[in-house]
Amino acid sequence: MGKAICFVLLLSFHIILSLFVVEICGNEQVRALHNLRRSKLRGGSEIDRSEFKVEEFVHDEDAIIVHPQEGLKEKDKIERLPGQPQVKFSQYGSYVTIDKVAGNAFYYYFVEAPQRSKQSLPLLLWLNGGPGCSSFAYGGLQEVGPFRVNSDGKTLYKNNYSWNNDANLLFLESPVGVGFSYSNRSSDYSTYGDKRTAEDNYLFLVNWLERFPEYKGREFYICGESYAGHYIPQLANTILEFNKKAGKTIINLKGILIGNAVLDDEADSKGTYDFLASHAIISDKAAYELKQKSCDIATVNRTSECVAAFIEYEKDTSSIDSYNIYAPVCKSTNLTAHPKKTSPVIDPCSESYVEAYVNRGDVQEALHANVTKLKYDWKPCSNVITKWVDTSSTVLPLITQFLNNSLRVWIFSGDIDGVVPVTSTKYSIDKLKLPIQTGWHPWFAYGEVGGYTEIYKGNLTFATVRGGAHQVPSNQPARALSLIKHFLKGTPLPETKTAP
Ligand SMILES: *[C@@H]1O[C@H](CO)[C@@H](O)[C@H](O)[C@H]1NC(C)=O
Ligand SMILES: *[C@@H]1O[C@H](CO)[C@@H](O)[C@H](O)[C@H]1NC(C)=O
Ligand SMILES: *[C@@H]1O[C@H](CO)[C@@H](O)[C@H](O)[C@H]1NC(C)=O
Ligand SMILES: *[C@@H]1O[C@H](CO)[C@@H](O)[C@H](O)[C@H]1NC(C)=O
Ligand SMILES: *[C@@H]1O[C@H](CO)[C@@H](O)[C@H](O)[C@H]1NC(C)=O
Ligand SMILES: *[C@@H]1O[C@H](CO)[C@@H](O)[C@H](O)[C@H]1NC(C)=O
Ligand SMILES: *[C@@H]1O[C@H](CO)[C@@H](O)[C@H](O)[C@H]1NC(C)=O
Repeated sequence: MGKAICFVLLLSFHIILSLFVVEICGNEQVRALHNLRRSKLRGGSEIDRSEFKVEEFVHDEDAIIVHPQEGLKEKDKIERLPGQPQVKFSQYGSYVTIDKVAGNAFYYYFVEAPQRSKQSLPLLLWLNGGPGCSSFAYGGLQEVGPFRVNSDGKTLYKNNYSWNNDANLLFLESPVGVGFSYSNRSSDYSTYGDKRTAEDNYLFLVNWLERFPEYKGREFYICGESYAGHYIPQLANTILEFNKKAGKTIINLKGILIGNAVLDDEADSKGTYDFLASHAIISDKAAYELKQKSCDIATVNRTSECVAAFIEYEKDTSSIDSYNIYAPVCKSTNLTAHPKKTSPVIDPCSESYVEAYVNRGDVQEALHANVTKLKYDWKPCSNVITKWVDTSSTVLPLITQFLNNSLRVWIFSGDIDGVVPVTSTKYSIDKLKLPIQTGWHPWFAYGEVGGYTEIYKGNLTFATVRGGAHQVPSNQPARALSLIKHFLKGTPLPETKTAP
C-alpha cells in the first residue's frame, strides 16, 4: 500500500530526500520515481510550480472536441470479470479517445448502482493520485469499488462497504502512462503535468457523457485522495469555467470530497514533520531542523544539521508503512494457491494481488483493456511516465473560489497517515482563514466516534477519520461509507451515537 503514493514524496517537500537516501518504498515503480526525481533535480529542468489557471491552457472552446460515441456504450459493457461473485449491477470499461491525431486514450471503469436506484443516484468520479497511480488499482479494487482481489490473484470478493449503493462510480486512469491509458505518441509520456491533466480529464468527461447520455445533467461529484488533492480542484475549476463560458450547465458539478490531500506545499511539509514528531516517529530535533528554511527544497547548500536530520528521518521511517503508521507491512508479495480469509480491513499485500489479477489476459479481455497490446505491464503506479512538467505549489485559492461558488467542499483526513497527515490538512485549512460555523466536535458512525469535525463559514466541512490511513476506505471502510453518505446528502455528520 505504501508503495502507491511515492510520487507524493517527490512532488512536495521530500524532493530533497533523493539527494541523501536510498528508496523509501522500494519496488519497481519506485525506480521510475527515482529517475523522475533525478531528472527534476538536474539543472534546467526546474518544475513549474505556478498556480493553476484554466485560461492558461485552453484558449479556445474549439479545443474541446466531442467525438461521436454512438453504440460504444453497449460495446463497453463488461459481461463478467473473471472470478467475480454474482452481482445485481452493471459494469463497463473501455477507452475514450482524447486526441485522435496523437492516438491518445484514457481508460475508464464504470460501476453502476443497482438497477432499481441507478437512475436517481448521482454520478461520482473517483481519482487517485501519484501522479501516476491508477484509480482502478486503488479506488476501484482496494477502496470504494464493489470488489476486492483475493490473495490467489485470480478471484474477487465483495466489498461490503462499496460506494455503488449510493452513487454510480466512475474510475479513471489518468493521464496517459497510468494503468491502461496510453498514447501512440511517445512524447506524451513526458509532457503531462497538472495543467494538461486537468484539460484532458475534462475532455474525457465530456466525451464520456456523450457515450452515456443518460448521465448528462446528473448531479456530479468528484472524490479522491492524495495527489488527487491537485487533480480534483483543478478539474472542478475547469468544469466551472466551461459552464460559465458556455452560459449553461455542461457538467452539473455539485461538490468535491478530498482526503489526505496534497493541498499546499508549505503546510504539507510542516505538518508532516510535526505529525511524525508528535507520534514519536522522528525526534523533535529532526523535526525542528527539517522545518528550517535552510532545509527547504529550494536551498542548494544545506547545513550539516539538515543533512543529519534527513538521515535520521530516513532511518526512522524506512521500516514502517508511513501511509499507515500502526499497520503491519506486507511480508510476502507471493500469491497463495487458495484465497486467504478476508476481512473488511485490507490485507497489506493486496496491491500485489491486484497487480497479478489485472495483468491476466482473461481479465484484460473482459475489461476491454490493453487493446493495442502495450509493451509494458499494467502497474498500480506508472513506471512509464518519465517527467511531470508542472505542479501547483498550492490549490488553496481554488478552494476559496469554490466556496464562493456554493460548491459543496468536504476535506477529510485519516488520522494515522504519516505522508499527508492530518496536521498538514489542518495547517492548510488554517491558511484559508475561514470563520468557524460549527465548532470542533466528535462525529459518530455505527455507535462509535468516527472522527472529529468542524464546519467553516461558506460550508467547508473538515472531518477526520479515526484510525484512517492514507487510503481511508481501505482500512476504515465503514467510516468512509458513512462519510460519503452524508456528503452526498449534504447533511452534517451525526453528532450523537444514535443518529442515523
Ligand atoms: C494507436 O495505434 C494503434 C495501432 O495503430 C491503433 O489501433 C489505435 O487505435 C491507436 N490509438 C488511438 C487512441 O488512436
Ligand atoms: C554552495 O557551496 C559551494 C562550495 O562551498 C559554492 O561554490 C557554491 O557557490 C554554493 N552555492 C550556493 C548557491 O550558495
Ligand atoms: C515466494 O515465492 C518465491 C519464489 O517462488 C519463494 O522462493 C519464496 O520462498 C516465497 N516466499 C514466501 C514467504 O512464501
Ligand atoms: C460481507 O458480508 C457478508 C454477509 O454479512 C459476510 O458473510 C462476509 O464475511 C463479509 N465480508 C467481509 C470481507 O467481511
Ligand atoms: C498488454 O498486453 C501485452 C500482450 O499480452 C502484455 O505483454 C502487456 O503486459 C499488457 N500491458 C498492459 C499495460 O496491460
Ligand atoms: C470570495 O468572496 C469574498 C467575499 O465576498 C471575497 O472577498 C473574495 O475575494 C472571494 N474570493 C474569491 C477567490 O473569489
Ligand atoms: C450552506 O449550507 C446551508 C445548508 O445546506 C445552506 O442553507 C446555505 O445556503 C449554504 N451556504 C452557502 C454559502 O453555500
